[in-house]
Amino acid sequence: MSPLIVTDDVRKTYHPNRADATEAVAGISLQIDAGEVVVLKGPSGSGKTSLLSLIGCMSRPTSGRVIVAGEEVSRLPERFLTLVRRRTFGFVFQHYQLIPDLSVRDNVMLPLYPEPMSLTEMQQRVATALAEVELAGFAGRRVAHLSGGQQQRVAIARALVNRPQVLIADEPTAHLDSRLSIELLQRFEVLKQAGLTLIVATHDPVVCDHPLVDRIIALHDGRLIGEGGA
Ligand SMILES: Nc1ncnc2c1ncn2[C@@H]1O[C@H](COP(=O)(O)OP(=O)(O)O)[C@@H](O)[C@H]1O
Ligand SMILES: [Mg+2]
Repeated sequence: MSPLIVTDDVRKTYHPNRADATEAVAGISLQIDAGEVVVLKGPSGSGKTSLLSLIGCMSRPTSGRVIVAGEEVSRLPERFLTLVRRRTFGFVFQHYQLIPDLSVRDNVMLPLYPEPMSLTEMQQRVATALAEVELAGFAGRRVAHLSGGQQQRVAIARALVNRPQVLIADEPTAHLDSRLSIELLQRFEVLKQAGLTLIVATHDPVVCDHPLVDRIIALHDGRLIGEGGA
């Protein structure tokens, strides 16, 4: 079986023609299989977020190739790239990036608007996603009124509402205490059992040492410095 995600000598340089040019991803080749739980581990500035956004079709590489389900997405025109992104990936950003003045329900529904879907179906999808993160009773609340842990669960529901194959989470335990971190990992465990591929950037040992993790990829200065089973 071919891997779900391949990066082939992928590089990302910010401000390439300026004095402050930064090569955030400096030639990374890796493969991720469907159903795998992979951790990208490395200190701050090592390129984790940049690599996640290349894998998740949120940004394009400066050079190298990104292949998702056999398709070289790094070459796709914008609208097709957007389609692959929407259909394949769900993102949980480090700072969640919710809209605080909207309700929980409306935040979770946002990714569905571009889909050809009836309002009833959208509402059902949102209800299912909220139930999955145990926020069924919170649909009408404003996000700004929720705790940090609850906001993250809204972010997870929003990431799941399109039923993606891959969930990408950027430092998901950075703002959680240890009890909530364990709870999050249990949630990830359920998603893994359901067949989702998980790609998690973190340097938190609570995540790295968890039995759910299949493989740890270590990054430093935009390079892969080690790879192994968890
Ligand atoms: N949008 C950007 N513009 C310019 N430099 C960036 C940008 N995003 C990240 N960088 C730089 O790229 C390097 C890697 O950053 P990042 O991918 O955020 O690493 P990490 O997530 O591991 O902290 C850092 O030196 C960072 O300052
Ligand atoms: Mg980061």
